[in-house]
Amino acid sequence: MFASTVKADDHSTCELPMTLNKKIGSMKEVCVITGGGSGMGFAAAKTIGKKGTYIIIVGRTLNKLERALKELRNEEIEAEAFACDISNRGAVDELVARASEVGIITSVIHAAGLSPNMGDAKTIMEANALGTINMNEAFYKAMHEDSCMIDVSSMSAYLIPSIVIPRKKYKYSRIDKDLFIKKMMSWINLFPKKLRAGVAYGISKNFVIWYAKTDALKFGMKGIRIISISPGSFETPMGELEKDRIDEYTKNSAIPRPGKVEEIAQLFEFCVSPKASYLTGVDILCDGGCVASREGAAGLRKKGIPDQ
Ligand SMILES: NC(=O)c1ccc[n+]([C@@H]2O[C@H](COP(=O)([O-])OP(=O)(O)OC[C@H]3O[C@@H](n4cnc5c(N)ncnc54)[C@H](OP(=O)(O)O)[C@@H]3O)[C@@H](O)[C@H]2O)c1
Repeated sequence: MFASTVKADDHSTCELPMTLNKKIGSMKEVCVITGGGSGMGFAAAKTIGKKGTYIIIVGRTLNKLERALKELRNEEIEAEAFACDISNRGAVDELVARASEVGIITSVIHAAGLSPNMGDAKTIMEANALGTINMNEAFYKAMHEDSCMIDVSSMSAYLIPSIVIPRKKYKYSRIDKDLFIKKMMSWINLFPKKLRAGVAYGISKNFVIWYAKTDALKFGMKGIRIISISPGSFETPMGELEKDRIDEYTKNSAIPRPGKVEEIAQLFEFCVSPKASYLTGVDILCDGGCVASREGAAGLRKKGIPDQ
């Protein structure tokens, strides 16, 4: 799947001619979208780009980004692509520098991530957890008042049993990132090999919620809002890979179908807009009621109350 990946230091940009153009003074409004080459990130690029915001889509695979960029161009969206691996801090710093050069960063939608079928436990942990640390740290420095950052988590963060979550070790992410990854991996390696990628995914996404929350005050002091959004099952390339496991969840949900990417793109758009100006430091679970359906029914059953 990732045959033609671009290494962090190979990153490159592909610019498009201007069409729509939303500006602050003479500066363009810029929205950076990691994972913008496919799935939810790409849907967000279309939704937000159509409002006139300049879009920078980010991913590792240049040809995926180029295909996405072509489609954005067909819809007259002003955009460019930046190929980099967000688990590499140096590459993320270069992304920040490029975005700041283009205009004022008004929003960042950090949707890049790897699911259990997309890599081994360490690669997943580095993309999802370390990637989020890199994105939040680097963009915090470049973002200004009234901007918004979204970190995309997952409903897996809610479904993973609490006994599996090494929450006390999360603090190392604020002290020493290498040590943090070592601590996470030594915990994950206690699990049988075939479970490790799934455990790494659940822990890394639970960490994303914790990290966004614990960044809220710091971001707030600069007038930046930060939110995490936890999708349930969505129709994306990743959703397709996890289909067998996830179908089991969706069929018993309050809304018994996977979400459409447009549905979450509109939530992203609302959250980064001034309409959500009082919203920060929270996680929004957008899962068609999947977690509520499981926890609610189980909770009632435990108390001996019939749920039907
Ligand atoms: N679809 C679902 O059912 C579902 C459910 C819960 C949570 N989520 C979360 O939602 C987010 C979006 O996923 P999606 O469903 O839209 O899947 P997707 O289409 O596979 O998008 C994920 C994107 O992330 C990029 N990416 C992965 N690792 C990266 C890295 N290290 N650096 C830069 N880019 C990277 C990928 O591009 P490259 O391969 O080119 O790098 C890809 O475009 C993810 O964080 C995922 O965990 C999805």
